[in-house]
Amino acid sequence: MLYRSASKERLFLCYSIHMRTKLLNLKNQALALIREAENKKELEHLRIQYLGRKGQINQILKSIPGLDDEEKQKLGQLTNDVKTAIEQAIKTQQQSLQKRPKKTWFDVTAPGKLPPQGHLHPISQAIEEVTRIFERIGFTRVRYPEVDWDWYVFESLNMPADHPARDEWETIFIDAPPHKKMGQMVLTTHTSNGQVREMERVKKPPIRMLNIGKCYRRQQDRTHTVMFHQFEGLVVDKNIGIPHLKGTLDYFAREFYGPQAKSRIRPSNFRFTEPSFEVDFTCTHCSGRGCKFCKSGWHEVGGAGLVHPHVLKAGGINPKKHSGFAFGWGIERSYTLKPRLNIDDIRLLYSSNLEFLNQF
Ligand code: PHE
Repeated sequence: MLYRSASKERLFLCYSIHMRTKLLNLKNQALALIREAENKKELEHLRIQYLGRKGQINQILKSIPGLDDEEKQKLGQLTNDVKTAIEQAIKTQQQSLQKRPKKTWFDVTAPGKLPPQGHLHPISQAIEEVTRIFERIGFTRVRYPEVDWDWYVFESLNMPADHPARDEWETIFIDAPPHKKMGQMVLTTHTSNGQVREMERVKKPPIRMLNIGKCYRRQQDRTHTVMFHQFEGLVVDKNIGIPHLKGTLDYFAREFYGPQAKSRIRPSNFRFTEPSFEVDFTCTHCSGRGCKFCKSGWHEVGGAGLVHPHVLKAGGINPKKHSGFAFGWGIERSYTLKPRLNIDDIRLLYSSNLEFLNQF
């Protein structure tokens, strides 16, 4: 359509643009083929194909109708540039072929190059390790909701609404109408929400639960992140007492931190355990002697205690027949205390910085 209705000048202009595009395409094609040429013979063949008397460039030029002088000059200039570029490429390729060692033989049995392999994030590795340690003594790994009702996170754990003990938890509430019985929805502040849920699931003791999940609190500094992981142990059976708890904590210390590591429990207060304890582990940097890092030879990691009778009741278990212990603390915190890790800012674990993460 354009050609038919175009004036003579316009027609020349169209031809000229068409020719220029053709020449540039030809150049790109030639350069690519030249770069792939494997030997002198192939290069000579390409030279004839593009630059020879009957070569493609001359063919194009021959097909140009009588253009006006200015257009002819422009096209002539472009043709020369294309020719020079092709000649230059042939020369460069010739030189690089001369430098290249001759391929004499190819070892088909040589092992291939393996693509780089990634690995699990250090926290996923720690979760796996903690799971294996507790599975060996009969615990079952479970997961409970990370957005849960107030009832499971607080109320059923002996923390009524408005009780000051709730203040410790820096809770993030979901902005939705509360349930009549279950209360408001919250981002779980601890994995203790699994305690009553597990009692409801199992119904009859024995229970040996390991609940690992994400927890959320309004906090952020070198040793705290808004999202972190906790693991929660719960054992309910007949005649369960403090020695069972202490034995389990010592077992974990040895398995996770090494044969020298020990646990220590100190009196504390949680609404859902009675008595309650803070749990410390030997500092792995100084083997408990006391150093700059730990000051006392111990690191505090979390809480534990004997399950409060009100909690057993909330889970449908008769506290006169059964008793239990529970413990819980952060995966990140436990992991960074491992020997020789020296991670002094746990936020680095979530920085997506591969230089940092690839070390583990
Ligand atoms: N849930 C408590 C916390 O997050 C720890 C804890 C777990 C204490 C189980 C006692 C028993 O601090």
